[in-house]
Amino acid sequence: MRSALLLAAASVIVVFTTSCDPAKPSYLSQVKRMTGGDPKLGRLKIRNYGCHACHTIPGVTGAHALVGPPLVHWSRRVFIAGELPNTAENLTKWIQHPPQVEPKTAMPDMGVTEQDSRDIAAYLYTLR
Ligand code: HEC
Repeated sequence: MRSALLLAAASVIVVFTTSCDPAKPSYLSQVKRMTGGDPKLGRLKIRNYGCHACHTIPGVTGAHALVGPPLVHWSRRVFIAGELPNTAENLTKWIQHPPQVEPKTAMPDMGVTEQDSRDIAAYLYTLR
């Protein structure tokens, strides 16, 4: 189980370190394909849902809070909440239902829809 997790985490790193500049279309299309989301919409939805009330998120207006961990360099992170390998599937799951992953977590279930979580995940993966 542990080695499977590490393998999954390592493959995330490989995907991101072999890709190029975040501003380049190839990186953006990779992020879109991987998440099924649109980073531009995700950036707006982060504000609509109020994620910035708890998180520091580069590029999002007013997102300087430190209630939860800063979501800086998100694409380089290996684990989500110290539990799940940082894959697109796991991230959308976490954004939608954090307490299902970690029952005692302080991050609430905010009723994020499937598509909205994909868009938000897409934005987070643009953060290198
Ligand atoms: C009430 C405060 C609060 C709000 C609002 C909130 N979060 Fe969180 N978030 C947290 C806390 C606290 C953690 C740490 C959870 C843990 O490790 O159990 C966390 C963890 C995370 C993580 C994993 C961070 C890491 O370092 O592994 C991500 C990604 C995340 N939140 C995204 C979001 C998104 C996207 C939204 C908006 C839909 C959001 N959060 C809204 C408090 C919040």
